[in-house]
Amino acid sequence: MADQMGDSADSLLIEAPSKLKLPLKVPQKTLCGPGPTNMHTRVRDALKLPLLGHMHKEFTEIMDEIQSGIRYIFQTQNQMTFAVSGTGHAGMECCLVNLLEPQDSVCVVNSGIWGERCADMVKRLQGVPHFISSGELGRGVSSDVVEKALIQWSPKVMYVAQGESSTGVMEDIKMIAAVADKYSCLVIVDTVASLGAVPLNMDEWKVDCVFTGSQKVLGSPPGTSLVSFSDKAVAKYKHRTTPVTSYLFDIANNAKYWNIEGYRPRGYHYTGAISSFYALREAIGVICEEGLLETQKRHQDAALYLHEKLRELNLELFVCEKSFRLPTVTTIRCPSAVNPVAVTNYLMDNFKLEISGGLGPTKGLVWRIGLMGPNATRDKVDFIVGCLSEALKALKTSHL
Ligand SMILES: Cc1ncc(COP(=O)(O)O)c(C=O)c1O
Repeated sequence: MADQMGDSADSLLIEAPSKLKLPLKVPQKTLCGPGPTNMHTRVRDALKLPLLGHMHKEFTEIMDEIQSGIRYIFQTQNQMTFAVSGTGHAGMECCLVNLLEPQDSVCVVNSGIWGERCADMVKRLQGVPHFISSGELGRGVSSDVVEKALIQWSPKVMYVAQGESSTGVMEDIKMIAAVADKYSCLVIVDTVASLGAVPLNMDEWKVDCVFTGSQKVLGSPPGTSLVSFSDKAVAKYKHRTTPVTSYLFDIANNAKYWNIEGYRPRGYHYTGAISSFYALREAIGVICEEGLLETQKRHQDAALYLHEKLRELNLELFVCEKSFRLPTVTTIRCPSAVNPVAVTNYLMDNFKLEISGGLGPTKGLVWRIGLMGPNATRDKVDFIVGCLSEALKALKTSHL
C-alpha cells in the first residue's frame, strides 16, 4: 500500500484537459427532431434536487410512485412493471432477453429501422427472426399480413413498434394484438416514439410486453426506459430452460429492487439512477397533472395542425394514409429541387431549431419533425413552419 501511494508522486504522464477546468456551457435549442425533445420545467427543476441513497426510504417511495405512474400511462395492472437505466434500446433489450430462448421464432413487424434493430437483437440471442411487412415504406401492416405470418412461422413472440420514428408510420396495435392472441403469440410493443401521444391500453388490448423511453413525449432526458410484462409474459420467463443472459435486465433481479410481489423484501440490484428517476417521476407527473387523454389530444391536435400548415407550403407528407400517420413524428417528402441537408443546417444555424433528415430506409428521402412533450403545441408548429418557410425561400435561389 505504501509503495502504491509512493508511486503517485508529483508528476503525471497525462495532463488535465484545460477545457475541463471551466464549467460547461451548452446552447438552448428547440429540439423538434424525432427525439430527444425539450424538457418540461418540472423535469428540469427535479434534476437540481439533492441526491438520495438508492435504498433510502424517500427514494424507494419515489420508485413506488414511478411504478404506479407507469401503470397509469401504460393502462395496466401488471405487477411486473418498472424502469431500467438505459435509453430505449435498454427497454427493447430487457423485453427480448427475458422472453426469448435460443431457437425461439420471432415475428418482427418491419416498417422502418426499428424492426431491423430488433431482428439484430433477436439473432444475438440466438432466436430466429421473421419479418412482417406491408411491402410499402410509409404504410403499416394489415391483419391479413400479420395472420399469414403467424400461421407460417408459429412464433412464440412478436415485436412491433407502435410508432416507427424513421418512417413516421403508426401501427394498429389493438388489431395486431388481437390477431396474435388468436395464435397464442406474445406481443412486445415498442412505444418509445408513441407513448403518451396515442392510445395504448395494455391490459384491454392484451398486450404482453411494453417498453418506452424517457426522452420523447415524456419530455425527460434520455437514460431511462419503462417496461411492463403481463402475467403470460412472466409465465414464459418462469418456464425458461436457459438462464437470462443479462444480469442487469433479468426481471427477477429488477423485481427485487422494485419490491414486486413474489420477490420481496426489496433488495439491492444496482444503484438506481437517482437524478434520472427524479426526472422520470416528474415527467410522468406532468402527464398525471394534464391527464393522459388530454396529453394524447394535445399531441394529435398539434400534429394535424402541422399537416395543414405543411400543405399550405406545398409540402407532401410521406405517409399517405391518414390512419397510419404517427402524431409525434411527421415525415415530409423532401422536394427534389432542394438539398435536404442544407435546409436542416439552415434551421439550426439561423433559428437553433432541430428538425431531422431521414434514418435507415428514409435517409435522404424525408425530413422528420417531432412534436413531443412540451413541444406539442400549435405555437411551436407556427414557429417551425415559419422557420421552414424562410429556409425554403432562402435556399430556393441557390438550389433550384
Ligand atoms: C420506435 C423506437 N424504438 C427504439 C428507439 C431507441 O431508443 P434510444 O435511442 O433511446 O435507445 C427509438 C429511438 O428513436 C425509437 O424511435
